[in-house]
Amino acid sequence: MKFPAEPFRIKVVEPIAMTSENERRRLIEQAGYNIFLLPAASIIIDLLTDSGTSAMSDNQWAGMMLGDESYAGSKNYYHFEDTVRDIFGFKNVIPTHQGRVAENLLFSTILKEGDVVPNNIHFDTTRANVEYHKAIALDCVVDEAMDPDSMLPFKGNMDLRKLQKAIDEYGPERIPMIMLTITNNSGGGQPVSMENIRAVSALARKYHIPFFFDACRFAENCYFIKEREEGYRDKSVKEIARELFSYGDGCTMSAKKDGLVNIGGFLAMNDDTLAQEITNMLILIEGFRTYGGLAGRDLEAIARGLKEVLDEDYLRFRVKQTQYLGEMLIDRGIPIIKPVGGHAVYIDAKHFLPHIPQSEFPGQALVVELYQRAGIRTVEIGSLMFGHKNPETEQDEFPELELVRLAIPRRVYTSMHMQYVADSLGAIYQDRQKIKGYKIVYQPKFLRHFTVRLEPLSRNI
Ligand code: F0G
Repeated sequence: MKFPAEPFRIKVVEPIAMTSENERRRLIEQAGYNIFLLPAASIIIDLLTDSGTSAMSDNQWAGMMLGDESYAGSKNYYHFEDTVRDIFGFKNVIPTHQGRVAENLLFSTILKEGDVVPNNIHFDTTRANVEYHKAIALDCVVDEAMDPDSMLPFKGNMDLRKLQKAIDEYGPERIPMIMLTITNNSGGGQPVSMENIRAVSALARKYHIPFFFDACRFAENCYFIKEREEGYRDKSVKEIARELFSYGDGCTMSAKKDGLVNIGGFLAMNDDTLAQEITNMLILIEGFRTYGGLAGRDLEAIARGLKEVLDEDYLRFRVKQTQYLGEMLIDRGIPIIKPVGGHAVYIDAKHFLPHIPQSEFPGQALVVELYQRAGIRTVEIGSLMFGHKNPETEQDEFPELELVRLAIPRRVYTSMHMQYVADSLGAIYQDRQKIKGYKIVYQPKFLRHFTVRLEPLSRNI
């Protein structure tokens, strides 16, 4: 069998309400054709994100009942701390309620105006947290990451020449940190190789620059290393994770991904002075050092989730389920980013809808069509999310890639759900000429995709 069956069976079910196409057409019109403004109860399959949407195991739910809600020194904190130290190897472990708070605490402690943070590609919240401090978020990913057809096995790698150039150009004193996002979400969920991590680490050490991971999807990245990189086939994913983190000085983590929980995150690092400074800030904005904005039961669920996520039967299924969806789309002629990443399949909307120019939001047109016709929610990562007017030229500028992301929640949907998604997209692909573009009727000043309102363009192309 090419793809493994689900390595779990279903003990509790959450019914899905089967809305009609007419109902959905009415709801999306009311929502200004913005899928963030839809009631989730109207959705049949929700592929908006893989973040905070995991199904917890019976073991995690059992752990929730063992929550110790003491203000300080909860036993769940110690379990959480031991687990993070065991896998990630960093000395200080600081809980936060989600990933972006870890980023905020880190960057507000170490960044000053004019500093530069190189990363393969910054995720939106990471970039926003860097830029908020008037620092530069510099993406140094390999060029192949921008080519949807390049089959490089580690398309999330840092381009070492770009990194060296940044160090030469800005000087190491302006670079308080180098980061690597594993897997590289904004570049299609592509992994970073151990070889690349070792080389980035060597460069960082040469210039005495701290090296941190954005570790949200670390287990998926480690599984790709096991599958694709020479010398790792016989190592366990946990051994691979330990080696990987041994090359860094710390990490930020959104446990809403590979922590297999619905809320939670942390910051971990070896530097005691930095950890103390961050802890002082944590107490101001999140909570005491041993809960950081979470309940004791949440910390227990994360500790258990971090152990479960290293299970290789689970990871094989996880990565292969995403690949299975990707292959079904390829079989139907649908253009996607290749190779398929760990947590999501990305459709190349420019090639799916070549008759719609980026000024009319082809990615969003596909997102809306998929919701209306099949009740599937996805997200546009293209002209709507990143398009903007250049203040100097007054011209609209659009990103190179126009994508629709199908992010797969962990342990939530079955292969038959994936089949439904592929068949629905296949049917839409057959009728793609009928799909029309959109125009914006309301937009805020920043992060417009969350609250934007649109109208369909009436002309037939
Ligand atoms: N870093 C990466 C690589 C992410 O993908 C995310 C979240 C974060 C940091 C922030 O974590 O949401 O817990 O504050 N990504 C989600 C997504 C939102 O849909 O890709 P958070």
